[in-house]
This record gives sequence, structure tokens and C-alpha cells, in this order.
Amino acid sequence: MHLKIQQLSEDLRNKISAGEVVDRPASVIKELLENCIDAGASKIDIIVESAGQQTIQITDNGHGIPVEELPKACERYSTSKIATVDDLFKIHTLGFRGEALASIASVAEVEIESAINDKEGGKIKHVDGVSSKVSPAPGIIGTQITVRNLFYNTPARRKFLKSQRVEMRHIIQMVRRFALAFPKIGFSLKSDDKSIMNYQSEQLKERISATFDPTYSQNLLPVKFEKGDYKITGFVGTLNLVRSRPGEQYLFLNNRYIQDRLLNSAVYGAYQSLVNRGEYPFFVLNLEVPTDQVDINVHPMKIQVRFKDEWRIHHVLKSSVSEALSSLLDTIPDFGKPSYENNFSNSRNNPQYNPNQDTINFRAQHQSSEQSLNSAGLERAKNYI
Ligand SMILES: Nc1ncnc2c1ncn2[C@@H]1O[C@H](COP(=O)(O)OP(=O)(O)OP(=O)(O)O)[C@@H](O)[C@H]1O
Ligand SMILES: [Mg+2]
Repeated sequence: MHLKIQQLSEDLRNKISAGEVVDRPASVIKELLENCIDAGASKIDIIVESAGQQTIQITDNGHGIPVEELPKACERYSTSKIATVDDLFKIHTLGFRGEALASIASVAEVEIESAINDKEGGKIKHVDGVSSKVSPAPGIIGTQITVRNLFYNTPARRKFLKSQRVEMRHIIQMVRRFALAFPKIGFSLKSDDKSIMNYQSEQLKERISATFDPTYSQNLLPVKFEKGDYKITGFVGTLNLVRSRPGEQYLFLNNRYIQDRLLNSAVYGAYQSLVNRGEYPFFVLNLEVPTDQVDINVHPMKIQVRFKDEWRIHHVLKSSVSEALSSLLDTIPDFGKPSYENNFSNSRNNPQYNPNQDTINFRAQHQSSEQSLNSAGLERAKNYI
């Protein structure tokens, strides 16, 4: 039976669009943090109550929103970040679609307070699709956005949320991504009055230690690599930071956290002869790529991106990690070339494995497997795709 074709109401359209961007408290936090960073904030404070379901409040010291523009901030397709189609391939901000705040406001109550420089700020509230008048907000510096009662009007979505413990884990993971991508920015996270994170502006190495634990800083190999117009920086972990589960692999494209199996496989490929299958090295890497070589507008959450030449990036990334691994090896005295069988004598699967000998054995493994680092890596990489 044919049902009549009819246009969806604006409210329903907004809720459908919101579903693409906001699926849990952590994704609200992602969108709000992106806006703070785009506003040039150097300090961002996050407060959540009931794992973000009751309240998410983010305060930044960025450039703020002019009072007269406050009513537009939550309108769909309203943005200060792009103006023309050409701009889509010159994106230097994390946001550009002009829909995050509109999406959040369609599934939660949103209050925005903001001020520009030392001018008196303004405050606006959006509840049930209705916006309040802008009222004065004295004393505010930068922007504070408060999101309350997430999914109060979309109970089906609310039912998909996991326990508060799990949602909090997602929030911490999300904040970590930003904290690692922007170590110069100070971040704090409080959950139900408990301090979870408090990072001052610092170098990436210090931020990694603060995020994971202090032992990480002794097990990091710097990556600094340039090839043509690509630049790769960050750190990869020694074998002491190899884990049997994924989760500590952070790949950023122009400081945007991305998930890309092919590029992850490039890193794994560089480690190929050093770790076993099912073992995951630690890395925090930022790829600087000209904006016209990447399409960010392929996924509403912008976590997946498309590259003009993904294999070129794969190759450069793998070379950068291989170089980082070998630069460490070059500083270690030569302990003689072991037989191939001995290459894996210090593998973590060996009962006599001694983690303190990692570096020595690392060299031994590297020497005889140099070729496999370069050629077989690609074969192995294909298995991860
Ligand atoms: N914390 C903030 N500081 C300054 N301006 C902000 C802040 N948050 C939002 N804005 C302003 O509100 C506008 C709308 O924000 P919103 O997140 O909805 O869209 P966007 O960031 O432009 O694009 P996207 O939907 O991709 O995130 C932004 O373009 C920006 O001008
Ligand atoms: Mg945004």
C-alpha cells in the first residue's frame, strides 16, 4: 500500500539530523569542545552530572560570540566558519557544518552565555524548540554552554544509553583525544564534583604522562618526519607499551582525531616484526596534510575522512614510524647479530621475557628484520585492512 509522500516537520527533521551527530553524552562533549578550540581557547573546563545525562557544562576562554549573534548559534546551518563551497577544501577549523548546536538543542535544553573581549556578555536559552530573548550576562569571559536533560524528548535514544559508568568511560576517552591533540590547552573534567582530569598547558610528552601514567614518558620514541607537503609528528611507544587490546592508538589529521584502518595499519606495519599479531603498539601521531588533499565532509561526526592519495599517506606514515623505531636502535651498542630464531627470544610470549631487555633485543630484532620492516610490513598491513 502506498502511503502519502509528505514533507517531515522541522522538529522531526532536526531530530533525525541530530541522530547523526549526537548519540551519547560523549558526542555532545565532542561538539562543544570543537567549538571551544575553534574559538582559540587556551583553557577549557568541563563539568558533567550523571555521566552527562543530567548536565554537561563547558566553559572556555575563547573569543566568544557577539551578543547580537547569539540567537543564530543554535540555528541549523548557521556557522561563522565557512561561507562558500570552495571553503570546504580549505578547512582550518574542527567544525564547519553549522549544525552541532542546532542538533544538541533539538534533543536537550541548551543555555549559552558568551562575551567578546571585555564587553558585557549575553545569555540565551533554548527549550523545546523555543528560544528565549537574549538577556545580559555580566562577568562572563569567553563562552559557557550548558546542556541539560539530554534526550528528554527522545526517550528511544535515551534507552540506548549504557550505564553511567560506561557513558563516563566514553566521556573520558573523548576528552583524552582532545587533550592529546592539543597539549598546549589546559583541560579540566569534573564529574559529580569529583575531579577526573586537570591538565595545565604542557608539551605533548608531559601530556601523555599525565593522561596515562608517568612511566609512559620513559617509553616514548619521538616521530618527526617531513616528506613533501606532509609532516608527521608525535610519539610511538617502545615494546613496553604494547598491549593485547587496542585502545591506545591516537591518530590525528591536522589535529582532528580520526579513525582510519588503513593508516593504523601503516603504523602496525612499521612494528610488524617487533610485535605479534593481536598486539597493539601505543602511538599519538598528528598528520599535517594540506587541506585540499583531504575531504572531511564525508561523515557527520567527521571521524572518518577521505584522502586524495591514501596510499601516499600510508607510505609516509609508515616510513616516519620506522624511522622513529630505528633512531632509538642506532643509539644502542651493537650486541651482535642473533640468528633469526633468536629474534623473538624476548617476545612477551616467551616465559623468560624480561621487559628490561626490550631495547637490547629490540636492536637485535631490528637488525635482522630490517628488510621485513620495509617490505613485509606492507603485506602485513594488508591483513589489517
Ligand atoms: N564556544 C564557542 N565560542 C565561540 N563561538 C562559538 C562557540 N560555540 C559555538 N560558537 C559559534 O556558534 C556557531 C555554531 O556552532 P556549531 O557547532 O553549531 O557549528 P559549527 O561549529 O560552525 O559547525 P559544526 O556543526 O560542524 O560543528 C559556530 O560557527 C560559532 O560561530
Ligand atoms: Mg561546532
